[in-house]
Amino acid sequence: MTYSRVIGTGSYLPEKVLTNHDLENMVDTSDEWIRSRTGIVQRHIAAANETASDLALHASREAMKAAGVTAGEIDLIIVATTTPDMIFPSTACILQDKLGVRGCPAFDVQAVCSGFIYALATADMFIRSGRCRGALVVGTEIYSRILDWNDRSTCVLFGDGAGAVVLTKSARPGILSSHLHADGSHKNILSAPGNICDGKIQGRPFVMMEGNTVFKFAVKVLEEAVLEAVAENNLQISDIDWLIPHQANIRIIISTAKKLGLPMEKVVVTLDRHGNTSAASIPLALDTALRDGRIRPGQHVLLEGVGGGFTWGAVLIRW
Ligand code: UT7
Repeated sequence: MTYSRVIGTGSYLPEKVLTNHDLENMVDTSDEWIRSRTGIVQRHIAAANETASDLALHASREAMKAAGVTAGEIDLIIVATTTPDMIFPSTACILQDKLGVRGCPAFDVQAVCSGFIYALATADMFIRSGRCRGALVVGTEIYSRILDWNDRSTCVLFGDGAGAVVLTKSARPGILSSHLHADGSHKNILSAPGNICDGKIQGRPFVMMEGNTVFKFAVKVLEEAVLEAVAENNLQISDIDWLIPHQANIRIIISTAKKLGLPMEKVVVTLDRHGNTSAASIPLALDTALRDGRIRPGQHVLLEGVGGGFTWGAVLIRW
């Protein structure tokens, strides 16, 4: 049987830090409100000359270094992003060029905050089917460019960053299963409803969210995705060593863990230091837990995400 295994991870947060206290000078908010309602303390903001592919490049180089592979050994590049460098070419093709690789397939996946889960599941299927041997999967976002900085209900929530993993073909697991879902009938509760037509902006290309509706939907589907992954592998919730959730709101994370009966000691939380980085949040948290030694060989690691679309899903890994 062929599996894919994660053999290296990397992440990158831009240099500039924007704290909750900084935001107090920008909109009618408070550090207390943001901390207590979201768990976020600070977020990172990309420099004016940085693009999503630049952030991705930093994270990818770290992941390849950790994996001990060169760019030439990568034969698939998938980038999950909602904030691409440009309309086209894809951020994956731009990243490929920056890495100095040629020829292998490279494409973007757009599933908003579930993007990394979608991208990882896709790369896993390429490897399992024998179509590639080594994949680079990246989540990279510059949400600071699609936020209305006068809207306190959204601008305090998001940040910029990137996370990457290198996957390789292996005879032992690896990724055990992946579970992807979407329901487009909920497309309007979280969106950036804008476009370009004849060179002019159409609509309103800023993040808009019905926070409460999104919150309830997220808790419901994240629980379902975890249960689905656990059941398919004949495991129990108690067999999960680490839950790595999309980092959107500490209250969503706590509610999901509580519904699942999973102690918070088994949940990786990094959102306090980078806020909601959309497709980058799961690989950022994974990289942190791997580098600080929490994740050890043989453990079960469950990644789960939810985002605009609506999209959601989970990937279960035996490390
Ligand atoms: O990435 C995946 C998708 N995103 C999410 O998962 C986010 C999901 N939603 C959430 O995290 C939460 O719903 C929010 C953090 C966005 C909001 O928290 P909430 O507890 O649902 O607050 P609320 O929207 O019900 O607002 C409560 C109050 C309101 O004032 P009134 O109407 O009660 O007087 C808001 O106007 O808080 C007010 N408010 C703020 N106050 C200070 C909203 N934003 C702020 C703010 N600072 N930044």
